[in-house]
Amino acid sequence: MKAIILAAGQGTRLRPVTLTMPKPLVPVANRPLIAYAITLLKRAGLTEIGIIVNSLESSITRALGDGEKLGVKLSYIVQEEQRGLAHAIGLAQDFVGDEPFSVFLGDNIFQDQMETLLREFPDSDAEAAIALGEVKDPTRFGIAEIKQGNVVRVVEKPKDPPSNLAICGVYLFRKSIFDAIGRIKPSWRNEYEITDAIQELIVDKRKIHAYTLQGWWIDAGKPGAIIDANHLVLGDMAYTPPPEGDHITGDSAVSHRVILGENTRIVDSVVRGPVIIGDNVTIRGSYVGPYTAIGDGVTIENSEVEASIIMRECVLRDVPGRIDSSLIADNSEVVASNRQTPSAHRLVLAENSYVQF
Ligand code: G1P
Repeated sequence: MKAIILAAGQGTRLRPVTLTMPKPLVPVANRPLIAYAITLLKRAGLTEIGIIVNSLESSITRALGDGEKLGVKLSYIVQEEQRGLAHAIGLAQDFVGDEPFSVFLGDNIFQDQMETLLREFPDSDAEAAIALGEVKDPTRFGIAEIKQGNVVRVVEKPKDPPSNLAICGVYLFRKSIFDAIGRIKPSWRNEYEITDAIQELIVDKRKIHAYTLQGWWIDAGKPGAIIDANHLVLGDMAYTPPPEGDHITGDSAVSHRVILGENTRIVDSVVRGPVIIGDNVTIRGSYVGPYTAIGDGVTIENSEVEASIIMRECVLRDVPGRIDSSLIADNSEVVASNRQTPSAHRLVLAENSYVQF
């Protein structure tokens, strides 16, 4: 069975980070968001994966290449205009051919690895299958109504939701979906909705299997959700003993569940896991608290940070107070002023930045 991952969206809700980095490459526990879907598919034996991108020049193609490093075979399919999930899936028809296939949204991240669902679907009697998870705000999602384990109705962003079971970005289809996609009309938001194509299959009396997700699931489309995803992934990190060696010096205390990259130095600092730190990082006179991911080349001096994502080459220096639940993109600097008066904050912020003092 082949798989496709949808990664052509603009990620507008994640600006300013996505002004320079597509959402699927935003790091969660120091791995790009899209790598989680690829790993999950690979684990279930799905190694032929088509990624829908908005351009072949996308940094996604540069970052992932042919997939060899990840142990999969990647192809790229271009969706030039974002006309909805169903439109994107329709573009993959030649890639998947007549075989059953799975579809993943590139910005969702799951604790459940769904191996049985993926392995058993091709030989099952279902025409399609969707993974469902309970949500608090069903008006924001595609929602399914279920009877005896099968889906009897799906509706996109309903004003009056028939249940709180959201479609969470994992779909298994057969070639019949392409015909259904051909029959739907754009929705109120002017997108071809895959939910509407699934409803077409239901109207045709096809069997749609409902798979209930176990564990946590995050639609990582907004900064808060990315930080939550980082928290949850690091929370699932297996035990590792406290790192030791010459690279940890002075009055330092580094706990278990702390992963350190190459050439990374901890000087006179406390690091309390679960924490992941990349290569060539210097942490001096600082505190790094649980659920923090620090990218390559970062410098943290005389500062405190917790439950945050600090991306590549950032500098945090002499920051007063603790940085908490923050998302700081590549090459950013957060430093203290060395002047007492006038006491002022100096900011260089991109569109949609957020600062809380
Ligand atoms: C999309 C789908 C929706 C699904 C959601 C999951 O919504 O249209 O059915 O529940 O992904 O993340 P969108 O992110 O486009 O609002």
